[in-house]
Amino acid sequence: MATYNCMYTSSFLSVFLLYSCFSPIMVFSQLSQNQATTMASLSNLLAPSVTWNTANHSNPCSWNGVTCDSTKSHVIMISLSGNSLNSSDFLPVLCQIETLQHIDVSNNSLSSIPHDFITECGKIKDLKLLNFSGNNLSGSLPTFNGFAALEYLDMSFNVLESSIDIQLDEMISLKTLNLTGNKFNGHLPTKLGKSMVLEQLLLAKNQFQGEIPEEQLFSYENLTLIDLSENHLSGAIPSHIVHLSKLQTLFLSSNNLSGPIPMSILNITTLVRFAANQNNFNGSLPSAISNNLISLDLSYNDLSGPIPKNILSSPRMEVVDLSNNRLSGTLLLTSISPSIVRLRLGNNLLQGNIPSDAFAKAQNLTYLELESNELTGGIPAMLGSCHNLALLDLSQNHLSGILPAELGNLSNLQVLNLQMNKLNGTITTPFQNGQLQKLLKLNLSMNSLTGSIPSQISSLSNLRFLHLQQNNMSGSIPSSIGNSPALLDLQLGGNQLSGAIPSMPLTLQVSLNLSHNNFSGSIPSSLSILYNLEILDLSYNKFSGGVPDDLTKMAALTQLLLNNNQLSGLLPRFRDFVHVEYNGTSLVPAPTSDNTTPNYSQVSRKKGSSVVLAILVAIAAAVFLVGLITLLVVLVSRRYSKVNNEHVHSGEDHGLPQILQSRLLTPNGLHRSNIDFSKAMEAVAETSNVTLKTKFSTYYKAIMPSGSIYFVKKMNSTERALPASSHARFGKEMEALAKLNNSNVMTPLAYVLSSDAAYTLYEFVSNGSLFDVLHHGSMGNSLDWASRYSIAVGVAQGLSFLHGITSSPILLLDLSSKSIMLKSLKEPLVGDIEHYKVIDPSRSTGNFSAVAGSVGYVPPEYAYTMKVTVAGNVYSFGVILLELLTGKPAVTEGTELVKWVLRNSMNKDYIIDSNVSKTSQAVRNQMISILQIALVCVSTSPGSRPKMKSVLRMLLNAR
Ligand SMILES: *[C@@H]1O[C@H](CO)[C@@H](O)[C@H](O)[C@H]1NC(C)=O
Ligand SMILES: *[C@@H]1O[C@H](CO)[C@@H](O)[C@H](O)[C@H]1NC(C)=O
Ligand SMILES: *[C@@H]1O[C@H](CO)[C@@H](O)[C@H](O)[C@H]1NC(C)=O
Ligand SMILES: *[C@@H]1O[C@H](CO)[C@@H](O)[C@H](O)[C@H]1NC(C)=O
Repeated sequence: MATYNCMYTSSFLSVFLLYSCFSPIMVFSQLSQNQATTMASLSNLLAPSVTWNTANHSNPCSWNGVTCDSTKSHVIMISLSGNSLNSSDFLPVLCQIETLQHIDVSNNSLSSIPHDFITECGKIKDLKLLNFSGNNLSGSLPTFNGFAALEYLDMSFNVLESSIDIQLDEMISLKTLNLTGNKFNGHLPTKLGKSMVLEQLLLAKNQFQGEIPEEQLFSYENLTLIDLSENHLSGAIPSHIVHLSKLQTLFLSSNNLSGPIPMSILNITTLVRFAANQNNFNGSLPSAISNNLISLDLSYNDLSGPIPKNILSSPRMEVVDLSNNRLSGTLLLTSISPSIVRLRLGNNLLQGNIPSDAFAKAQNLTYLELESNELTGGIPAMLGSCHNLALLDLSQNHLSGILPAELGNLSNLQVLNLQMNKLNGTITTPFQNGQLQKLLKLNLSMNSLTGSIPSQISSLSNLRFLHLQQNNMSGSIPSSIGNSPALLDLQLGGNQLSGAIPSMPLTLQVSLNLSHNNFSGSIPSSLSILYNLEILDLSYNKFSGGVPDDLTKMAALTQLLLNNNQLSGLLPRFRDFVHVEYNGTSLVPAPTSDNTTPNYSQVSRKKGSSVVLAILVAIAAAVFLVGLITLLVVLVSRRYSKVNNEHVHSGEDHGLPQILQSRLLTPNGLHRSNIDFSKAMEAVAETSNVTLKTKFSTYYKAIMPSGSIYFVKKMNSTERALPASSHARFGKEMEALAKLNNSNVMTPLAYVLSSDAAYTLYEFVSNGSLFDVLHHGSMGNSLDWASRYSIAVGVAQGLSFLHGITSSPILLLDLSSKSIMLKSLKEPLVGDIEHYKVIDPSRSTGNFSAVAGSVGYVPPEYAYTMKVTVAGNVYSFGVILLELLTGKPAVTEGTELVKWVLRNSMNKDYIIDSNVSKTSQAVRNQMISILQIALVCVSTSPGSRPKMKSVLRMLLNAR
């Protein structure tokens, strides 16, 4: 019937009807025999990484990643992205499909491009896109002969090197070239397709050097995007650039470019985004600005002179960053574009008043940073009408006058930094109506503020940081402070506060600083319930009487400053890592008792129960998601974790565990002669030898008869003893692990199977775990960036080694900063590697918590999949990176670090540990780029997390 109609249609309708006539045919059309055969052999070559189901779906057009033309008669696109492919053998076979238009093999582990691929695929006449991004390609760029139709070439994020000459010049249709993130060096390439049609050129994150070649590069007049950032380019911006009449985006950030910003560049009318931050540009800013500019970043240069008054008036302007230059003069802004979102002018030499009317229309302004200038006058009340403001930083200026009440209208404000000015008056007005409900951080320190602390401040339900130190505030601390629901850090030092100390919020964690005030009376023992507090500073007051014994119970305390008070009596004994200062008092330290570890076991018991609690929380969350079926499992595992824990901490009862089997694994003669198995068993019988505890292991310190020290590790999971039937398997696994040779992996030296558990022996590391060093004791602060970076790289090295073991990759069941041991402050060891081999989570139903890992490190998908994966390990590594960057533990007050970081991701400087980042600009920049890496690692979707190998490469590139 359809055919009949078709034959009689007029030519007017034929186009329309052709579709309906031929549509039945499309369904039945077939891939040519040739292509079907090629696809079948590809399928064989790619198995098992790619599972193209040849049996069930015989038509390759329906295979994952394969696209055919509309008639389904030939393949036009193949995407094999993200399949962990490491052999390039299949590449030449692809070229047999002569109808291909797109080839995407990005995000695999390919290390080379076979010569055949270039010669054969170069002949495909419709091939438009080639994507090799995110592989391990090394060596120099191949010469692309042919490829006459290729418009898009992406070879970004590989390890390609040496210089680029004519390799790309044959590609006469090339419009987009992306070589970002390689190790190319030499001069910038200039032969990028003879026919000069190039539109997008991305060469960022390489090692290109020398000057930007004037004529050759900028004669590609169709260029719309140029990204040359993060190279070693020097010299000036060639003035020829203004001839690029279609240029929309120009990124030159992080090079060594110098000279002035060419006068005319900002008035290229097509230019939308321009970033040249972190160079050595000098001279003054061009005054003519294109109306189309949306973002402008010239921060961290050496620019001087005034800020042109129309710089913010471009009606599309959203982001202007001129911070960290030497810009001077009065801030004369005639108008500010209503579209402006972020304005950063901090760290310049700006003078005069903050223009007040200019901000009236800036309704989208979210970040305003004018800190570290020489601004005078008052804080304009008009700022109160910028309703979207989330960050207002006017700190370190010479601002005076009172806090305008209008600031209280900023209902979206999260950070208010006004410290180091000359503000006076009381602080009551902006807070009296309990607005500012989103405020997280209020810093009014180092001003001349007077009056008392308003009680309304405790109604700021999100306030975490309250810094009022070094003002002239008086009166007593309002008793409502104890109701502050979120306060982490309370700094009230250097005022004239007096009266009784009210009960403090349990949330306090960073510090409670009451120093240099007029507080008197005795130190309230109620402070001891602040079990998360790390620093308590009561120095320089008039406290009298004794120090309450209960203060020793503060589990997180690392610094207690009592000096210069009228205290007397015995100073109770605090744990070793608590730094106590009491000079300027009459306190006498309590004599050292014989038992040196009472407080330790007390604390570790507390920690143990919080681990149980954490597991319970994880389990509860999983139950919620997985459903009632697992309830039984959960109940069982819950009981086991409790039992295990009690057992570990109460066990002085019995005699030595009976050795069933013991074996030296290490070939090292010194260790072989040192290790004494019965000494090892004596050590584990004594709870005072417990030095570390991870989720699945307890580490005991054992001193051998030779005097050398070893770790004996008890695997908690084996607590009810391994069945004799599995002893052989255990031995074999240990033997295999002992052969691993990587300087960042903790490998067993020997093992013991006893009547009560399985034990492994390791070299002793006196620095303990990364967790202890970073979050406990006073060492965390001293862990400088060089150490933290070195630890990050070392852990990445260890993990990518373990993940890369081809015979059978080793995953970590519980990767956390507690399972990373520190050989030195720069040399980490990935520990607890045997659990994956010994505890089989898929089989041991009772061990559901094995899959859960430690709270804070568990990737979101484990709750559903209950399966330990490579991507899951990458997530946990991301959390460890965040710990190194922020100095914060993986979970604080029930909030996961990842969530906190994501919530604050707009303010990177706030996220990173300012004690470390402030040491130098270079450190800060490196921390910010590593923060980016951490953020990719903790992506919610496992598929978008990189492999450890790429993570390592990125970390090394961020050096
Ligand atoms: C390379 O650049 C192109 C063009 O801008 C872009 O679409 C692509 O996402 C980039 N590749 C990667 C891996 O970022
Ligand atoms: C630039 O692009 C236009 C329009 O796409 C095209 O006509 C022109 O030939 C291109 N210029 C060069 C030098 O190829
Ligand atoms: C661009 O700036 C230059 C130098 O200030 C000026 O001569 C020229 O007229 C400006 N062009 C436009 C379109 O504003
Ligand atoms: C302000 O932001 C909103 C939301 O992003 C946007 O829709 C609006 O156009 C912006 N206003 C101006 C004047 O740019």
